[in-house]
Amino acid sequence: AADISDDISEVLLTEEQIHEKLAELATQVVTDYEGREVVLVGVLKGAVMVMADFARHLPMHVSMDWMAVSSYGASTRSSGVVQIRKDLDTDITGKHVLIVEDIIDSGLTLSWLLENFASRGAESVEVLALLRKPDAMKVEVDCRYVGFDIPNDFVIGYGLDYAERYRNLRDVAVLAPHVYS
Ligand code: PRP
Ligand code: MN
Ligand code: MG
Repeated sequence: AADISDDISEVLLTEEQIHEKLAELATQVVTDYEGREVVLVGVLKGAVMVMADFARHLPMHVSMDWMAVSSYGASTRSSGVVQIRKDLDTDITGKHVLIVEDIIDSGLTLSWLLENFASRGAESVEVLALLRKPDAMKVEVDCRYVGFDIPNDFVIGYGLDYAERYRNLRDVAVLAPHVYS
């Protein structure tokens, strides 16, 4: 099979930088949620790596659940309408929910999820996102824990895909233009 590294123009964040940041965010979360039990909700599929590594930095009790959502087509996306492909298995009424995401791009997925979780009666809903693209955001999303603000380039790796590939890359990298042009 072809080597993934041929499709990368530049490594944006190394595996080490990512892990260091997740450890730092975990320290904050432990302090902020002292005495409370948290439900971590990962957003499939991009958040799988962040969830796996972040959760293992937490010395406290947590439960983990997953949502899969999709937005159909450009027009649907801009309207912010999201469809649930896999719902939570757990009832989050009265629970402290921490949504775990790989990236906030336009912000539409998360703003929809935040509203959806609030309507289920969660006691609190916060967001942890490894990456955020300030220049791509169309809606303000209140994100309590942000790993890195990054430029508006097409990034892949560490869960992030282009056409379902590259999620297994250890670093976060910028996709080489020859792949999509
Ligand atoms: C990506 C990413 C975020 C979302 C961010 O997921 O993982 O979930 O887009 O974009 P937004 O801020 O513009 O809403 P995607 O829909 O590609 O699904 P995936 O996680 O399965 O790759
Ligand atoms: Mn995603
Ligand atoms: Mg994707």
